[in-house]
Amino acid sequence: MTDANENLNDWLRDAHAMEQQAEKMLTAQAERLEHYPALKARIVEHIDETRWQQRLLDECLARRGIGSSLVKDIGGKLMAFGQAIGGMSATDEVVKGAIAGYVFENLEIASYTALIAAAGQVGDSATKSACEQIIVQERAMAAWLLEHLPQITEAFLARAATPGVTAKV
Ligand SMILES: [Fe+2]
Repeated sequence: MTDANENLNDWLRDAHAMEQQAEKMLTAQAERLEHYPALKARIVEHIDETRWQQRLLDECLARRGIGSSLVKDIGGKLMAFGQAIGGMSATDEVVKGAIAGYVFENLEIASYTALIAAAGQVGDSATKSACEQIIVQERAMAAWLLEHLPQITEAFLARAATPGVTAKV
C-alpha cells in the first residue's frame, strides 16, 4: 500500500528528472542545428521554459518537504529514452529530432495530467496550479512541433536532394 502523497512525491521527482532530461536533449538539438532557424529558435525558447519548469517543480518539492538532493540521483532515469531518440548520427537527424521532441512533449503532457489529478486528490492546490501552468507550455510546444513538421520535412528533403548542401542539421 502506498499513500497518495507518497505517489505524488514520486511523480514530482520523476517530473523533475524528466525536465532535466528534456533540457539535455533540447540543448543538444539546439547546439547542432544550423540550417533550420525557426526550429532552433523554438527549441531555445522551450529550453528557457524547461528551466522555469524545473524551478517550479523544485518549489513544489521543497514545499512538500523533499530536498533537492533526493532529486539528483534519478536524473539518469530517462536517459535510455534520450539515447534511443537522440539519433545524432542519423542522416535525417532534424526530422527524427522533431518527431522525438513531439513524442517527449506528449510524455510530459501525460505526466502533468496525472500530477494534476494526484495533486487535486490530496488537496495540494499549489502543486496542482504549478503543473497546470507547466502543461500549457508543453501543449504549446507539442502543437508547434506537429504543426511545423511538414515544413521541416520539406526543407530537409529539398536540402537532401541538393548536391553539396548539408541537410541533417
Ligand atoms: Fe517540454
